[in-house]
Amino acid sequence: MKEKESVAILAIESSCDETSAAVVINGRKVLSNVISSQISIHKQFGGVVPEIASRKHIENIDTVVNAALDKAGMGFSDIDAVAVTYGPGLVGALLVGVSYAKALAFGLGLPVIPVNHIRGHIAANYIEYPSLEPPFICLVVSGGHTNIINIRSYNDFEIMGHTLDDAAGEAYDKVARSLDLPYPGGPEIDKLSSNGNSKAVAFPRVMLEEDSFNFSFSGLKSSVLNYLNRCRMTGVTVSKADVAASFQQAVIDVLAEKAIRACKTTGCKRLAACGGVSANSALRNRLKKDCKKNGFELYIPGLVLCTDNAAMIGSAAYYEYLEGNFGNMGLNAVPGLKIDERRY
Ligand code: KG4
Ligand code: ZN
Repeated sequence: MKEKESVAILAIESSCDETSAAVVINGRKVLSNVISSQISIHKQFGGVVPEIASRKHIENIDTVVNAALDKAGMGFSDIDAVAVTYGPGLVGALLVGVSYAKALAFGLGLPVIPVNHIRGHIAANYIEYPSLEPPFICLVVSGGHTNIINIRSYNDFEIMGHTLDDAAGEAYDKVARSLDLPYPGGPEIDKLSSNGNSKAVAFPRVMLEEDSFNFSFSGLKSSVLNYLNRCRMTGVTVSKADVAASFQQAVIDVLAEKAIRACKTTGCKRLAACGGVSANSALRNRLKKDCKKNGFELYIPGLVLCTDNAAMIGSAAYYEYLEGNFGNMGLNAVPGLKIDERRY
């Protein structure tokens, strides 16, 4: 695709529990990023209820898209393409965004750009750091994914490691629930940990010694549950803050160690992080410290760009636009979409 001087992409994100729309110029400049969160609704059920998420997306999407255009000071005629997350995520939630984007693009006679949600998370770094370009190593830590990826170029990714079971965010949410903390558990554990002793309980650092970049968090989650049960059965009073801090330390030790190891192995001196768990204050501090010690450059998006938002989708979409990777009206939601595949 011929590079235009200024490409304005209207991006839509609806893969989980945020309805979001953004206008992004050339993948880097965010004119608007409107996020309508459903967290307060799902909180009462202790987690995301997929059916409710889909219904709320339907109710919100029109308002959110119009607000994004308004905030950007633009009308539909100023947009060059419509981008949308088509996977991975909840099928019903994704379908709302995909159907809306296809209809809008068709109506306006514009291309529709299907975007992989995880590639969106990675691209959040392009917004935060306008001069960042591949190659770099990226630690992806979200509610559904945990990966170490070698970003060789904008559209060439080598997956160095993945989780064999739970994602880091999933472990945070499950452990939080066992501590009777509200959904989403990650920010709650983050807060609570600052008052706890991270050495109070010796939880395992699973797979740290393994010579691979893979992760496993379900054993750690079980260790926390077993510890809490043992305490209950023996009448020992549990310090929630200590358990939270000790669990968090076990997660962070493995994430940071493997991410740094990936940089050393590849000889790449630039480490990025992304996804909801990269909003974690202790993980951010630890990565800062480790990168400084090793002479690596660290890139982490600001908090709003760590969790789900459409601006990151608009950024990733620009690099698809440049390669002419457009969908057609047969575009469907792909709930299990892998990071390194295109399914349209
Ligand atoms: O990337 P994201 O918004 O959605 C997915 O694509 O999954 O990530 C959501 C996850 C949830 O598991 C949430 O608990 C976690 O990110 N999270 C955090 C923090 N903020 C959000 N985990 C740890 N510390 C945080 N401060
Ligand atoms: Zn996400």
